[in-house]
Amino acid sequence: MNASEGPEPTAPQAPTIAVLPGDGIGPEIAAAAVELLGAIGRFELPEYAIGGDSIDRFGSPLTDQVLEACRSADAVLLVAVGGPKWDSTKADAPRPESGLLGLRKGLGLFANLRPVKPSPSLLDASPLRREKITGTDLLVVRELTGGIYFGRKLRSEDSALDECVYTVAEVDRIARTAFDAARRRVDPTSGAAPRVTSVDKANVLETSRLWRQVVSDLAAAEYPDIELSHLLVDNAAMQLVSEPSQFDVILTENMFGDILSDEAAMITGSIGMLPSASLGAERPGMFEPVHGSAPDIAGQGIANPLATFASVAMLLRDGLGLAEPATAVEAAIETVLAAGLRSADIGGSARTEQITKAVIAAL
Ligand code: IPM
Ligand code: MG
Repeated sequence: MNASEGPEPTAPQAPTIAVLPGDGIGPEIAAAAVELLGAIGRFELPEYAIGGDSIDRFGSPLTDQVLEACRSADAVLLVAVGGPKWDSTKADAPRPESGLLGLRKGLGLFANLRPVKPSPSLLDASPLRREKITGTDLLVVRELTGGIYFGRKLRSEDSALDECVYTVAEVDRIARTAFDAARRRVDPTSGAAPRVTSVDKANVLETSRLWRQVVSDLAAAEYPDIELSHLLVDNAAMQLVSEPSQFDVILTENMFGDILSDEAAMITGSIGMLPSASLGAERPGMFEPVHGSAPDIAGQGIANPLATFASVAMLLRDGLGLAEPATAVEAAIETVLAAGLRSADIGGSARTEQITKAVIAAL
């Protein structure tokens, strides 16, 4: 740009969304998301390396520069990290996943929200019977920066240790997030109580006993309207497939939330459908599909972009406060599914580009 032109003084600042494509299907899905965002409005969309891609280029899964760039963005959109190329059982091998974990910790993203609501057009795409999943509309609120993921790790010749620690403050803030989310999900005209199921393993784990106590105390003291129940994680795993529609908000710790959200994804037919938002006390939030990097189909142009598009909708609403375009993206996804367009993971043969064009046309 010619320096003397200067910036346009009247143009409103376009929000900056740091785009982190990552590995496997990451780049092709990120390109689709950039296309979608371009059709929605004006955004700055700088791209940065993360995960295995960053290991290959810079020797580390998350560089300080990229963390800083994300910190100063208005929101972060990440697709997926990891792949067989970087899989190793060696203790000190650089791991793509630690880039993602570093970003979550570095941005203080303690709350991971994973909504699970099967599209009416996809009720027969789930391996679960239609009548089982009909009416399912749940939200997994997963604690994201504590627990066994971030405890001390030790490795010796003949043993290994992963420490699981939770503090009262960590449990308290994620419980508040879940309770507040449950209140927001209730239709005020219905008279129904907001419901939260807290999932733990309090019959075995000390961290779970602390968890249960903090969650119960907070509900009694500040959220008397919440209908709170507690469920052991093994039972929760079973209930999720036997009667998923009973759940409203599921509040749980980091590792249980990781496992249960993959399980819950299958209610929607495919893990290729599930979005997520990772939020902290302030901006930026990070938004990513729940699915991984799918190295088996990478580069073929057949990956399902809908989980990322739904994550873009969450980014617009929860990350930038732009509710209107968020709703438009969600409606466009429904329109495209209702028209019968399906990628391979949900029983069709539509390609990424075709689905992207269709969603943009339906906006
Ligand atoms: C997820 C993923 C990550 C996690 C991996 C890639 C580190 O499975 O976001 O659910 O375990 O949190
Ligand atoms: Mg996971």
